[in-house]
Amino acid sequence: PRTVTLALIPGDGIGPEVVAEAEKVLDRAVAGSDVVFEKTRFQLGAGRFLETGDVLTDDDLEAISRHDAILLGAVGGKPGDPRLKDANIERGLLLKLRFSLDHYVNLRPTRVYPGVPSPLRDAGEVDFLVVREGTEGPYVGNGGSIRQGTPHEIANEVSVNTAYGVERVVRFAFEKAASRRKKLTLVHKTNVLVFAGSLWKRTVDAVAADYPDVAVDYLHVDAATIFLVTEPAKFDVIVTDNLFGDILTDLAGAISGGIGLAASGNINPDGTFPSMFEPVHGSAPDIAGQQKADPTAAILSVALLLDHLGLAEAATAVTAAVEADIAERDGTPRTTAEIGDQIAARLNGEASAPASNTKEH
Ligand code: NAD
Ligand code: IPM
Ligand code: MN
Repeated sequence: PRTVTLALIPGDGIGPEVVAEAEKVLDRAVAGSDVVFEKTRFQLGAGRFLETGDVLTDDDLEAISRHDAILLGAVGGKPGDPRLKDANIERGLLLKLRFSLDHYVNLRPTRVYPGVPSPLRDAGEVDFLVVREGTEGPYVGNGGSIRQGTPHEIANEVSVNTAYGVERVVRFAFEKAASRRKKLTLVHKTNVLVFAGSLWKRTVDAVAADYPDVAVDYLHVDAATIFLVTEPAKFDVIVTDNLFGDILTDLAGAISGGIGLAASGNINPDGTFPSMFEPVHGSAPDIAGQQKADPTAAILSVALLLDHLGLAEAATAVTAAVEADIAERDGTPRTTAEIGDQIAARLNGEASAPASNTKEH
């Protein structure tokens, strides 16, 4: 049998609730196959920080990076919690993982599934993929402030865009477009962010020469938010920077029927480091601990994970189970666990005996 080592980071708030369901579905999806997932659980996030003062130790990072893949729920406390002021879980944990493991592709697919209650009345056939750059932009922490707290404070947050970094993610996006409907939209703000915009535009134009079958267009990010609502079906692959991609993919989640459906993969395409799969949403402190979270995003992240590992059949089965579940949603409230159980039950693997065992780190 093939053994896959999986680092699990359930995290905070609804993170552990949705990861529990994702695990159920993963176990069921590979049950009876020749693949065994060997899981190690890492207790990381706001909870761990409040207990120990650690955000992500070198030992944690080392241990995580020795796995084949990572599944993360969500990390972070209630925005504004004074006890977490010095922790900066998002930067010190989530971004540290994405940067250290060179997750330069942040893959965020959106589909409007048949029967889903999307806020768009007639969305049409929506199936697009946002390829969000994951290691650069304003996220790098190249900033600082002077005269803080005075009326003369200056706060800078510099967006870093390298030719190397832009080229590799743009090339990845073209590859995806070439294997899909052959349409690529660059989203940026070249009319105002002239230096970064120019680098992105020139890079797309240059790489386009290698993909003559892919039709390329460009939208300013503000206009992109219009068309994502009015004509979402026209998009195939969108390539964009780290911050624009963050914002567009929450919007994409909303139009697809809710942020509880939006999955993502932080990919290191070179395979040097493990890729990390996680729902797009956060720890949702407003509904945490109440079994109100929709675990579908975490479950669809498992499908992305399986696909990334080359387990296409299992990935397709998970997606199909989710599709079938969504098609039958009629608004009857279900707990997080009920949704997970019902999706897992749709998979035909062995009903019993999960094909995995979990260690504590
Ligand atoms: P959020 O995504 O946690 O919540 C936004 C809204 O969406 C809330 O009303 C929440 O109840 C709802 N929601 C989110 N996931 C849902 C689900 N699965 N089912 C049903 N409803 C869902 O965003 P936020 O409130 O801005 O952030 C909360 C915390 O999470 C912050 O600390 C933030 O930094 C962190 N965060 C972490 C990640 C991550 O770990 N990848 C991502 C985004 C935000
Ligand atoms: C996301 C989140 C993160 C981001 C935050 C929590 C750092 O919003 O995964 O979309 O901005 O990338
Ligand atoms: Mn986000």
